[in-house]
Amino acid sequence: MSEENLSFIDQVRKRRTFAIISHPDAGKTTLTEKLLLYGGAIRSAGAVKSRRSQKYAVSDWMEIEKQRGISVTSSVLQFDYNGFCINILDTPGHQDFSEDTYRTLMAADSAVMVIDCSKGVEAQTKKLFQVCKMRGIPIFTFINKLDRAGRDPFELLSDIEEVLGIRSYPMNWPIGRDKDFKGVLNRQKNQFELFNDGNHGQSIAKAITGDLSDEKISDLLGQNLHEQLLNDIELLDIAGDDYNLDQILNGELTPVFFGSALTNFGVQPFLESFLNITTPPKPRASNLGPIHPETTNFSGFIFKIQANMNPTHRDRIAFLRICSGKFEKGMTVNHVQENKKVRLAQPQQFLAQDRMIVDTAYPGDIIGIHDPGIFKIGDTLCQDGSKLQYEGIPVFAPEHFAKIFTKNSLKRKQFLKGITQLSEEGSIQVYKRPNIGVEELIVGVVGVLQFEVLEYRLKNEYGVDIIIEKLPYRYIRWVEMDNFDQSTFSITMDTMIVEDEDEHPVLLFQNEWSIDQVKDRNKNALLKEISLRK
Ligand code: G4P
Repeated sequence: MSEENLSFIDQVRKRRTFAIISHPDAGKTTLTEKLLLYGGAIRSAGAVKSRRSQKYAVSDWMEIEKQRGISVTSSVLQFDYNGFCINILDTPGHQDFSEDTYRTLMAADSAVMVIDCSKGVEAQTKKLFQVCKMRGIPIFTFINKLDRAGRDPFELLSDIEEVLGIRSYPMNWPIGRDKDFKGVLNRQKNQFELFNDGNHGQSIAKAITGDLSDEKISDLLGQNLHEQLLNDIELLDIAGDDYNLDQILNGELTPVFFGSALTNFGVQPFLESFLNITTPPKPRASNLGPIHPETTNFSGFIFKIQANMNPTHRDRIAFLRICSGKFEKGMTVNHVQENKKVRLAQPQQFLAQDRMIVDTAYPGDIIGIHDPGIFKIGDTLCQDGSKLQYEGIPVFAPEHFAKIFTKNSLKRKQFLKGITQLSEEGSIQVYKRPNIGVEELIVGVVGVLQFEVLEYRLKNEYGVDIIIEKLPYRYIRWVEMDNFDQSTFSITMDTMIVEDEDEHPVLLFQNEWSIDQVKDRNKNALLKEISLRK
């Protein structure tokens, strides 16, 4: 059926919106690129990757990204494949990732977790996984780099189960290890997919299939490998979890795929299986109860704000995840939190290699809307004048803190304006020490690179030079208790009490020992790791 003839419901049902999470270097960029390649959104491998070599960049909107050759902000890539409309939310994978990386996961309906087969679950994967788990979205695991030496597959599965606390179901199983790697057994189809190096990853590899019991497979593998495979599969069948779709869709069981993104091996079976299992956008929680995506009234929420994507314009772009109804260019919507009408005149959508003005968009899609400074993260936009508000977006715990000052006190006004804007965009969190005479600001960030971004942007956008004095704190806790009183609240010597922007008491800790001490000494206080944005 041609695109124009699809009904609104068809459009919703063909949407699949997901994020790819991983620790840096596990192969997220390579896998993203291969998915785009299969989707026909790019013609050859290298278009996404080359942002590292700085020749071309899909999401290099900010100068600093170009300078560092990394992606500081998240972008959204949309393409069609086999009747599905796929939205991949790109999460910055650099070590110095920011709160945006977490927030992007609030807009995803499922997640793909890429793990390097020689490393297992790594620190950043663990942090991002926890956000997915908190949301209860389905999580698919792609164990990458099978073309080279890695850890034992059984060991990798127990790593996932022990470190992340999620059960797993291998959808395919590697045959042979390391140099003897011959391919995988597709457990669902009981098919044998032989590894060839897929034209060095430059084009789409053909899967070679055959049945497990086929004699030619035994001849091909040799007796040892064939026996090992039969033993492995028997062990999985007896001791492993059963395939359970409900558990997968509730984020309690992760389907695991072994493959090699670089050589294209296992990418297409993964994509097809993933699309078969995942669902279209699901109802979202709101103050009026769950809102079904097939409801015709338009609604969505803002999960990210990005300033100055176009350096010649001093504008901001707010990223809106559409949750229900059809979006049409130029439509007027309700900005619920501000109780104002807003016309969405120049909405943008993000295709694999470009941004373009979008005429229509559907639940599951992400659009970028011009923000003259009126939107905040977590704001709801909706059509019908109702008071619908989607659940707030959490404030994720910063892990780095610093005091900041302007070098020139005459520029204090611009300094505060810049800080306020950056805080509204959610790239920094600002704290104050209560009852401190001297004016000082404490800034918390999720990734240490954000300090560089802060310094760069204050200088370039507000003409303000700043001094950043790093503080030794690593952990933050929001204090929940009746009648908090700083003078009687007992803390350790190395802990600091501050207030957040809502004047809520917050503790900054240097180590976990102090957190335990403070909990012990103040039994009536609850120390929370995540707070909800007001
Ligand atoms: P990231 O986005 O998760 O940070 O990882 P990225 O895709 O950039 O991959 C990190 C490195 O791992 C790259 O090598 C990439 O080529 C390699 N890689 C990705 N998938 C596979 C795979 O299936 N097998 C093997 N053997 N390697 C893989 P690099 O040397 O850092 O970069 P480049 O010079 O290849 O661009």
